[in-house]
Amino acid sequence: MASGEHYEPYEQLAPALLRSELRGKVALVTGGGYGIGRSIAQSFAEAGVARIILIGRTETKLKDTANDLSASFQEIDVVTMVADITSKEDVQHIFESCTKYAPDILINNAGYLSTPAEFLDADFDDYWNSFMVNVYGTMLFTQSFLRHRKAYVEAAENSGNTPSPAVVVTVNSMGAFLSMPKFSSYCSNKLALARWTELLSIEIPEEFARFVSVHPGAVDSSMGNKSGMIDQIKSGAAQLSLTNPKLTGDFIVWLTSRDAEFLNGRFVSVNTDIELLLSNKKEIIEKGMYSIRLSQ
Ligand SMILES: NC(=O)c1ccc[n+]([C@@H]2O[C@H](COP(=O)([O-])OP(=O)(O)OC[C@H]3O[C@@H](n4cnc5c(N)ncnc54)[C@H](OP(=O)(O)O)[C@@H]3O)[C@@H](O)[C@H]2O)c1
Repeated sequence: MASGEHYEPYEQLAPALLRSELRGKVALVTGGGYGIGRSIAQSFAEAGVARIILIGRTETKLKDTANDLSASFQEIDVVTMVADITSKEDVQHIFESCTKYAPDILINNAGYLSTPAEFLDADFDDYWNSFMVNVYGTMLFTQSFLRHRKAYVEAAENSGNTPSPAVVVTVNSMGAFLSMPKFSSYCSNKLALARWTELLSIEIPEEFARFVSVHPGAVDSSMGNKSGMIDQIKSGAAQLSLTNPKLTGDFIVWLTSRDAEFLNGRFVSVNTDIELLLSNKKEIIEKGMYSIRLSQ
């Protein structure tokens, strides 16, 4: 391990350590049928949540992931819902279907990378589609999640119960902070999401919900390959390491734990060692670290 960084899963992050804390929880993962979302769902299953809801547009992939999880974790209810997160009707339908329970955890993982191109050459519809999925879709989905959660909390409080705070983890990208030619759509829309996460954490009481942005590492997925980054890492042209998607899933599950509450509003990377984060907790809070600042 160099300078507190990890690329493979490690003991302290084992999802099974959170079984008692996450027992009974409902976790919803957008883009849960394949790619990084599938690994996130697998880690939540290992953490023993009660129900996992997988959202995506491709039914066959959602079903494959659900069947694999159900075969290994028979006690967990795995639900799939075909939906495009940019469709108001689809998103409304999802939350109207959650009548007997409310998701406690939302993982905004679904995303789209426009074909890398310089701004002058980019096909504008493709360029803008990354804003549609990453910004419009993620914000629309989150607003519906929070409204549904609010109604659920009010009903529970009327019956004398106080549900624990919801957690919203939004999968972001270190690209938001890097100067990457040909990625101006993706990098700028991810930066918008990071700032939005900060603002929601200020606006919404943490007793109701908390929010965190996370860089999932460089993961060998279809998007990772589309970016060209995976080939560059494999050929040695980029001085980076690939991240095992199990580490990504395990870290994201940890972000939903009480230990990670102090990261509300912040941007963290799955590659950072959790002991390092925990031991620097006071400094992180006092100095406003892992947040966006204008340097001037
Ligand atoms: N891979 C990396 O190295 C890397 C690095 C930094 C950040 N990220 C971020 O990590 C997240 C996951 O990326 P990935 O690498 O797993 O990408 P991926 O392999 O392309 O998977 C994208 C996922 O999002 C779903 N999705 C896309 N558009 C959707 C829509 N409109 N409605 C519902 N679901 C939609 C896809 O399912 P359907 O096609 O079935 O809808 C799929 O499950 C993204 O937010 C990405 O920006 C990835």
